Amino acid sequence: MKGIILAGGKGTRLFPSTKIISKQLIPVYDKPMIYYPLSTLMEAGIREILIISDEHNIVFYEELFGDGKHLGLSLTYKVQKKPNGIAEAFIIGEDFINGQNVALILGDNIFYGQELLKTLEEASELEEGALIFGYWVSNPESYGVIEIDNKGNVVSIEEKPKKPKSNYAIPGLYFYDHTVVEIAKSLKQSKRGELEITDVHKAYLKKGKLKVKLLGRGVAWLDSGTHDNLVEASMFIKTIEKRQGLKIGCIEEIALKKDFISKEDFKNIIKRMPENSYTEYLKRILKISF
Ligand code: DAU
Repeated sequence: MKGIILAGGKGTRLFPSTKIISKQLIPVYDKPMIYYPLSTLMEAGIREILIISDEHNIVFYEELFGDGKHLGLSLTYKVQKKPNGIAEAFIIGEDFINGQNVALILGDNIFYGQELLKTLEEASELEEGALIFGYWVSNPESYGVIEIDNKGNVVSIEEKPKKPKSNYAIPGLYFYDHTVVEIAKSLKQSKRGELEITDVHKAYLKKGKLKVKLLGRGVAWLDSGTHDNLVEASMFIKTIEKRQGLKIGCIEEIALKKDFISKEDFKNIIKRMPENSYTEYLKRILKISF
């Protein structure tokens, strides 16, 4: 399975912080926001990843991660000319997807939790249809919302409904078979002028090919859409990292643990980094885990 990180958008809610850089480059506690969604795809075992951003910012992502070889990944980059909607990612990424199955994660979505690891590994084994998640939130009206019957079947999906039919929001992490490209191409622009991800899911639902998995309380799904969300997400990461002495979203550590890279490769990464607490952490990981 391949993976796409969508890291463009208008960034209007975080203006002026996003006047000159993309929102997904802003730090969440001790690392750029995009580290978290990248680490989620890596945890799912996905190593071929396309990063999509706008023309101005794409070079920063390339500078940040390069071709990804040092992490045992293959990273490529593409420009989204305008924020025409989340579903446009599959049209931009058509050549990259190349008839294979694909996961999409939004560059501002942060996931954390032990329960998640098994879920991600299972999701990446999807053969047909689409798999989305449902997460209970107190403010479903801010998200895509799914209504589920008592057998766990999806009854309806709505994008930011004024009167949500349930409290289950759809997080920005989705798994699809290759037909997602044709579905995205067949979509019409919504009233707000976007190709809506919700319309992709409605198309799968119509074909009887949409699966949903509810994420339990053991999983944290954090939003970094507003300044308040950003501070809260940073505080959450800081609290867990300080308490455990283990980092969340540390891509080098995940690459090593997943055997994407060798111990030697890991040591070489450390050598190229400046001396600071992040590097200290990587050195500690090398000693305690292996
Ligand atoms: O976070 C989950 C939610 O994400 C879902 O529940 C909703 O169904 C989905 O529509 C989306 O809602 P948002 O209001 O968060 O969408 P937003 O327009 O803020 O875009 C989400 C991310 O995708 C953000 O990091 C910017 C990026 N993006 C968005 C659009 C529309 C792009 O890179 N290009 C785009 O064209």
